[in-house]
Amino acid sequence: MNRHDLALIGFGGVNRALADLIRTRGDELAEELGFALRVVAITDLRLGSLVQDEGIDLDAVFALGADDIFAAWPGGAAAPRNAEVIRETSADIVVEATFTNPHDGEPGVSHVRLALEAGKSVTTTNKGPVALAGTELNAVAAAHGVHFAYEGSVVSGTPLLRFAASTLQGLRIDAVRGILNGTSNYVLGQMEAGMDLATAVAEAQTLGYAEADPSADIEGSDVRLKVVILANEVLGARITPADVSCTGITDLTPADIADAAARGLRFKLIGSAERRADGSIDARVEPMALPLTHPLAGISGPTNAVSFDTDLLGTVTVSGPGAGRVETAYALLSDIIEIDARVSRTAEAKR
Ligand code: HSE
Repeated sequence: MNRHDLALIGFGGVNRALADLIRTRGDELAEELGFALRVVAITDLRLGSLVQDEGIDLDAVFALGADDIFAAWPGGAAAPRNAEVIRETSADIVVEATFTNPHDGEPGVSHVRLALEAGKSVTTTNKGPVALAGTELNAVAAAHGVHFAYEGSVVSGTPLLRFAASTLQGLRIDAVRGILNGTSNYVLGQMEAGMDLATAVAEAQTLGYAEADPSADIEGSDVRLKVVILANEVLGARITPADVSCTGITDLTPADIADAAARGLRFKLIGSAERRADGSIDARVEPMALPLTHPLAGISGPTNAVSFDTDLLGTVTVSGPGAGRVETAYALLSDIIEIDARVSRTAEAKR
């Protein structure tokens, strides 16, 4: 049976959930997918403390069969230890799920580039590397005959990018718009129920939906990166965050929300990208008061939803979880399945 060896770069909640999935369902998955998965390397800034203080059982992870175990290394973007692990591991797929800065995409961008240049395929759930350097990184992957997949960079494990690229094939998609941030959606729901913004944000943090810096959630910059990815992937655009106008929900008051409710409207933070008649892209993030009958108005809590405006089907909407450890780990698994399929197609074509 074919096998893929994985190097897990960053061992936070998402990669730990992936390791757990492989440990608990590896045999079942192998039978269903026709290939086995094995973790051969793990890196994390806090690996020592994860083992000592949090009781993470690395033996259980590596019982999957590890060739090389790497311990903690000193921090910093593309620190030598990271580079060494990424270049030298025997893994054929690098799984990049570090805490990456959404403003410059580091250390994710450097990790992805190093891995692709070393001839390894990469999956990441980080949006920074995709939104800020996706064009370059896809070119590096193509130049090295490997694959770069990032389903989890938008709407977590809900299969949105691949849905647009494969299931909606043959349709012309003119616009994509949606609720792309679970935290702000949860906060708006709580505000509609009478809670103030700060308390609702604190709740979202406790529930684990919010970014490390929740201002990215409520000021719209998290959605802005996702709009860039959607515009570039789904509409074939080449935009950057600077091309997306951005207004978050911080100026909305409980009174605004109550007024809207009295008029049968509900505020949602909407990220959108639309092709104009001249071919250019209108991309924005803004709170919109939607009629309750609108398909996005009923999406509540941390759930995300995205509508595609198509020529032959009209509007097609997909909804599902937009965050969560297991949900995001599933995005990594679905990327690995896609990478395996692409590798098999290439091998087939060479025969
Ligand atoms: N903080 C994000 C959200 C998580 O609330 O949707 C995934 O980007």
